[in-house]
Amino acid sequence: MEAMSAEKNTLGATVYKHMCIYCHGADGNGGGKAVDYLYPWPRDFRTGIYKRRSTPSGSLPLDSDIYNTIAEGISGTGMPAWKDSLTSEEIWGVVQYIKGFSDRFLNDKPALAVQVDPIPQATPESIALGEKIYRETQCSKCHGSDLKGRGELAYDLFDIWDHKVFVYDLTNPNAYKYGFDQKDIYLTLTAGLDGTPMKAYTHLTDEERWNLTHYVHSQIQGDKFEPAGFEISMNVTTVEGEIDFDPENPIWEKIPAHAVHTLPLSARNNPVNRIKVQTAVNDEAIAFRLQWSDPNPDRSSTRHEDFKDAVAIEFALGDAVLHKHGHSEPFFGMGNRAKVVNIWQWRADWQTEIETKKKLEYATDGIDLDVMIFGGEVNPVDSLNPFRDVPVEEMNAEGFGTLTPQPQTKQNILGKGVWKDGIWTVVFYRTLETLNKWDIVFQNERPVLIAFAIWDGSNQDRNGRKVISMWQKLEMPN
Ligand code: HEC
Ligand code: HEC
Repeated sequence: MEAMSAEKNTLGATVYKHMCIYCHGADGNGGGKAVDYLYPWPRDFRTGIYKRRSTPSGSLPLDSDIYNTIAEGISGTGMPAWKDSLTSEEIWGVVQYIKGFSDRFLNDKPALAVQVDPIPQATPESIALGEKIYRETQCSKCHGSDLKGRGELAYDLFDIWDHKVFVYDLTNPNAYKYGFDQKDIYLTLTAGLDGTPMKAYTHLTDEERWNLTHYVHSQIQGDKFEPAGFEISMNVTTVEGEIDFDPENPIWEKIPAHAVHTLPLSARNNPVNRIKVQTAVNDEAIAFRLQWSDPNPDRSSTRHEDFKDAVAIEFALGDAVLHKHGHSEPFFGMGNRAKVVNIWQWRADWQTEIETKKKLEYATDGIDLDVMIFGGEVNPVDSLNPFRDVPVEEMNAEGFGTLTPQPQTKQNILGKGVWKDGIWTVVFYRTLETLNKWDIVFQNERPVLIAFAIWDGSNQDRNGRKVISMWQKLEMPN
């Protein structure tokens, strides 16, 4: 075990205050500012009850268990993986710090870790036996007979913190919170996920738990696994000729793409878990092309209550990036006080609105568009805004609830999105000059911190309900 030292605890406190507090709260109760947007809820550390342990159910976790959760993150939830942005010393420090929220760690010691090795070889027989046990122990009551999470109890499950529990699709490798290797699954079945309805199945023999593991593992669609970097460095590509905001411009074919990991703040099946990012710059302008898969485009502009697809790029203003690992960057969620972010948002309904207007203009050939739109009976589309001519908006924020569009005269982003064959492709374009101090500055050799958010209409996303990435470093050309 890592010894607790005063120095480490100061380091842990600093990390917690800068990286964890927005979700887990100042006193570790799981009620940080972001909590309204999060499902499942951030952990309340005061109980000392941990879902992920290598120790038996009911025991405290080992320090290394907490360390691993922080480093690897928790898939399918708002809990990011921190291994790319924190040093191991910082992670050990924050492990000690969050233990301090619960007296259990003072009075109690963790039990010995569950023995996982050696892993028995899966065979058709062990898989068949596992399937039988799956049926007999009624795993399907919660997980469904097809493992996709739609069991009869699945929608009425609560954890000990009184929050509703989401049952994930166990055939989807990306949905596993704690890994989908055989040893990870075996550990889940042997140690349980304390605090949740997922109990330890220690009344089954070791062999039975391995058979179950083999069965569950055999049902995972391994080829669906989509690894992507939580925090990566991306290069901006310098191009010779013109740049524009056409998503289908052939220049993009030659520009390298980076896959950035995204996390759903609110649990769902099949969340968008990566966004493909390309960036091009020339002497005058910079453009970003973003792509993500979405089988059902939501782009209607006719009804206000509809949920629409949208995407946003967020930039940290100031020189945050220079101090990155000193933790002076804004909260990746929405900035925070005195740490302002610049946000560019594209919306599918605005895109549709603009295209509808163009079609109307074409069809009516010369009839005054304002008359068309405000003219009552002739108007086929109620909510058209005749003044909107770009589907993107530029905003700033310094924390939740502070999102503010820049004035019309300072809006300087162009953009366009197209949906084709299950993929949205959206380009944002801006000239390099800035119009005010709230615009992100692009300069050679000066890296920029950048993050992404996607709203999926089919998942009822809007406002804080979305998938987001952590900060990525964008390297400008030399
Ligand atoms: C954007 C919100 C967010 C941030 C920021 C965040 N967390 Fe979390 N964290 C969560 C959520 C949500 C969960 C619960 C996931 C679940 O229940 O499956 C969680 C769970 C955890 C757990 C799981 C404990 C267990 O039960 O096994 C640990 C440990 C943890 N967070 C530590 C941290 C630390 C340390 C930081 C800062 C370095 C941090 N978190 C930052 C949202 C966040
Ligand atoms: C009473 C409901 C219930 C029953 C019965 C149940 N589970 Fe679960 N299981 C859950 C819930 C809820 C979760 C997710 C907990 C969370 O995400 O915090 C879960 C999670 C899991 C996970 C995913 C772990 C991860 O890394 O994300 C596996 C694997 C699993 N269960 C297997 C089983 C098997 C096999 C059985 C039968 C032996 C079973 N469960 C029985 C409720 C149940």
